[in-house]
Amino acid sequence: MHKVRVIEYKNGRLFLLDQRILPLRIEYIEIKSCSAAAAAIKDMAVRGAPAIGIAGAYAYCLAVREKNFSAPADLMKHMNKSSAMLIKARPTAVNLKWAVGKMHKKLFEVKNQGIEKIKTELEREAESIMNAQVKADLKMGEYGAEALKKIKKSGLSVMTHCNAGALATGGEGTALGVIRAAYRNDILEMVYASETRPRLQGARLTCWELISEGIACTLICDSLAASLMKRGMIDAVVTGADRIAANGDTANKTGTYAHALAAKQHGIPFYIAAPLSTFDFDTPCGEEIEIEYRNAGEVTEINGKRIAPEGISVINEAFDITPAKMISAYITERGIIKNVRQLQ
Ligand code: MRU
Repeated sequence: MHKVRVIEYKNGRLFLLDQRILPLRIEYIEIKSCSAAAAAIKDMAVRGAPAIGIAGAYAYCLAVREKNFSAPADLMKHMNKSSAMLIKARPTAVNLKWAVGKMHKKLFEVKNQGIEKIKTELEREAESIMNAQVKADLKMGEYGAEALKKIKKSGLSVMTHCNAGALATGGEGTALGVIRAAYRNDILEMVYASETRPRLQGARLTCWELISEGIACTLICDSLAASLMKRGMIDAVVTGADRIAANGDTANKTGTYAHALAAKQHGIPFYIAAPLSTFDFDTPCGEEIEIEYRNAGEVTEINGKRIAPEGISVINEAFDITPAKMISAYITERGIIKNVRQLQ
């Protein structure tokens, strides 16, 4: 599956694989403006921290093409606004802010070199962000598989939450990059994918990615994980991350913290696989990470069908924070990191 293009940019045109309708339909949508890209990111047509960073970088390229700017100052004004709009689309995943920031820095460097050169340089920058992620995924896979081998040389069962796969990065994935590498190394027996309420990225996306490559995968309700751990059915947990604070506290899809607690209780290693672009050394700890609050309909409805009574109040926080002390190690493209301070 990971050969399916998640984000495609060709001759000034941006296409996104519409992840909202997977795995039932494989359809691409063309994104014609920066504001349409921000809306697609917010509505999760594209999702997963690295993928929204890459989509944001290409959206930046679209924004530069939106008008004929008479002076560099006009262009910069437009791009300040466009960047702010993109970053606001999803506030927790720092990769979006990081990628748009990189694009903005590049624009600053080339802003006086004429519009054609500016367009080329920005497209090159977006492509390099995307290519770097593909490479980082492979490295995380290598390091992660080595770490898993130390737990069990074969017959390993790994649990993952949400989707930190090809769909979330455009490469092999972070957590699923590790799982793919473990599969290639013949270590892996089973992947347990938790469904990931309310948007079901585990059920819809992770299971689809794994099953289409012949990797044995079992879907479980989020709330079954602790019981499987207690019965010795899970040897390790590997998830992705949306932002890792300077002290190692990690924001990831809601439910990650509960899995980490259960893993700790049962002495099961809990790994976070994430590229360096997910580390945010400017944010000291988890409490300082802005958590995206999404609409109640995601919880009160399934596929547009109401399942909860009218008028019910809802908390729909898209991410939770797992404290650093519950994380066995971080699998990065630079190796296995036990303490985030090693990276600073
Ligand atoms: O709301 P989503 O689907 O964008 O959330 C995705 C996750 O929580 C992933 O685990 C995270 O972004 C890492 S993706 C490599």
